[in-house]
Amino acid sequence: MSATVVQQADAAAELELYLDGLMAREAKRGAPDRLVAAMRHAVLGGGKRFRPQLVVNTAFLFGVPSTRALPAAAAIEFIHCYSLVHDDLPSMDNDDMRRGQPTVWKAFDEWTAILAGDALQALAFELLAAPECHESSSVRSSLVVALATASGASGMVGGQVLDLEAEKNALSRNAEHIMRLQVMKTGRLIKAACEMGAILGEAVESERKALAVFGDRLGYAFQISDDLLDAEGCAETVGKATGKDAAAGKATLVALLGRDGARRQLDASIDEAVAALESFGGRAENLIAAARLMGRRTH
Ligand code: IPE
Ligand code: IPE
Ligand code: MG
Ligand code: MG
Ligand code: MG
Repeated sequence: MSATVVQQADAAAELELYLDGLMAREAKRGAPDRLVAAMRHAVLGGGKRFRPQLVVNTAFLFGVPSTRALPAAAAIEFIHCYSLVHDDLPSMDNDDMRRGQPTVWKAFDEWTAILAGDALQALAFELLAAPECHESSSVRSSLVVALATASGASGMVGGQVLDLEAEKNALSRNAEHIMRLQVMKTGRLIKAACEMGAILGEAVESERKALAVFGDRLGYAFQISDDLLDAEGCAETVGKATGKDAAAGKATLVALLGRDGARRQLDASIDEAVAALESFGGRAENLIAAARLMGRRTH
């Protein structure tokens, strides 16, 4: 095994332990058992950890060790997990299966799922604002701003609104609207992961901009690959129900352009993402590998 592969495996194991420890801390601080159990269900035991790995790998470009990136990495994973818990609710995508197990509302109930999502969101911002995240308060506040704007009304939450509105409105199914929707609901958080790594590494403006372009293109590609998996994947491998987007009348590029057309957009977007890293040379090897792998993912 190469040193890079070992290093990535170590960082992944370190993240899992860290996430587990944070759930244990919630219990110790007095959070109700039922809520902690639902939060654990939402966070642990599955998930590719794509966003936290991006934080770790972008911060690594600037020499930040993976342990120092853990609070920011966990924060973005918590926002992502909360978004999945709410996305699966009966009032949204009404899904029973997530990461190969029952969704939180199925395993518990709706109110517990809503509140577990709320608690994960609060915990994310606590992690970023706490002194252990970074010694500089200005770095910490930049991280809070980056994650809040990416996850709020003009980011993930806004994108979820456009997604659900478009189910009922065939007029919304044009390329411009679909791109806006997917950039907001998925792209913004993936872009924020890359920007957060740059913030942790106190990157200069040009480096931060390059990583923002990388994250933007990668995020756009990520939702296309998710939509392709829904159209072509098998539920056992993907870990969630497939074929649901067409059934629900979701506005996706797969519905608009067909699978081949969507795949062409996906490949072009990954090429653009990789091109944005040119100035980092060999240092960006992990990020480039992650981007290429994402384009061929099966789950
Ligand atoms: C699924 O995200 C939801 C989207 C934003 C498309 P992931 O594919 O990253 O889900 P996990 O975290 O690996 O389960
Ligand atoms: C969800 O998109 C994006 C989020 C902000 C959670 P999807 O609804 O396509 O995600 P999956 O397919 O349920 O994971
Ligand atoms: Mg959805
Ligand atoms: Mg969904
Ligand atoms: Mg999907």
